[in-house]
Amino acid sequence: MNNIKTELYPQAIRGGGKKSEAYKKARRALIAELISGVTGLLLAGFIFGHLILEGTMLFGKDLYEVVAYYMEHPLPLAQISAFSIGILFFVHFVYASRKIPARLYERKRMMEIGLSIKKAKKRWSQPKSDIMLRRHRETSLWIWQVRTGMIVLACGAFHLFLVTWNIFTDMGYADASGLTAKIASSRVESGLWILYLVLGISVVAHLAIGLYRLAVKWISDTWFNRRWAYLLCTVIFWFYVILCIAGVAALAGKLTLIEIPVGDLLIRS
Ligand code: HEM
Repeated sequence: MNNIKTELYPQAIRGGGKKSEAYKKARRALIAELISGVTGLLLAGFIFGHLILEGTMLFGKDLYEVVAYYMEHPLPLAQISAFSIGILFFVHFVYASRKIPARLYERKRMMEIGLSIKKAKKRWSQPKSDIMLRRHRETSLWIWQVRTGMIVLACGAFHLFLVTWNIFTDMGYADASGLTAKIASSRVESGLWILYLVLGISVVAHLAIGLYRLAVKWISDTWFNRRWAYLLCTVIFWFYVILCIAGVAALAGKLTLIEIPVGDLLIRS
């Protein structure tokens, strides 16, 4: 066996009623699984909408300005989202991170397995390794989900902090509090484009793999074929990766597809 002790390799325990420790442990694991799944699904829904709204910059900064304005007026949607997404982000991290190998040697082992699996052949042959490996898509996807999860945690927390600060204050240099095309572009142009590209590609990979794994766990191999789930998540991945790269280029002022006139909808400029 590979020494990594996560819930992915539970010990099989036979017997025991509803009061047994094994039953309680299994019940706790199921509840944690449901919470991490539901919060992950809600966050994926948020990111789908968020990247589309950010993508409005591709159709001109006036349209972006209109979207940014109506996210805050008359209903404080941005304020409510910043708060609720912050909580969801935290709860998802707490419940999903129980699967991340906690100890350093386990993490090292996971990296080793990740690299060996990449080199492994389709058949069971691994002459230079102490464990028998073969290429296995589900394992590689799980390893990538852990890797991208760590990046999203670090970069996403920083981004959430930054935009929440921007929504509620003038950050000491803007004309007023609130999201605007000018402030968003100035941030991206001044170097944050690197963070947004890394965060964007990681979050999209993380959510596409997450959706695939949710489908495999809860619905596929019933009425929904696992192969269709993989295909669907691959399409989602590429669509959002391209949208994200184009969106960052648009925010940096390097790309506009067409300028959509917004007329009277533009309240501030
Ligand atoms: C409600 C909370 C959030 C708000 C109000 C918000 C707002 C914004 C804003 C205004 C930008 C434009 C760049 C800037 O102004 O710095 C942006 C970009 C971006 N945000 Fe968020 N964000 C939120 C949550 C998140 C979360 C949780 C993630 C992922 C973990 C995320 C991922 C991104 C990415 C990848 C971009 C680049 C957009 C693109 O490529 O088109 N955001 N966000």
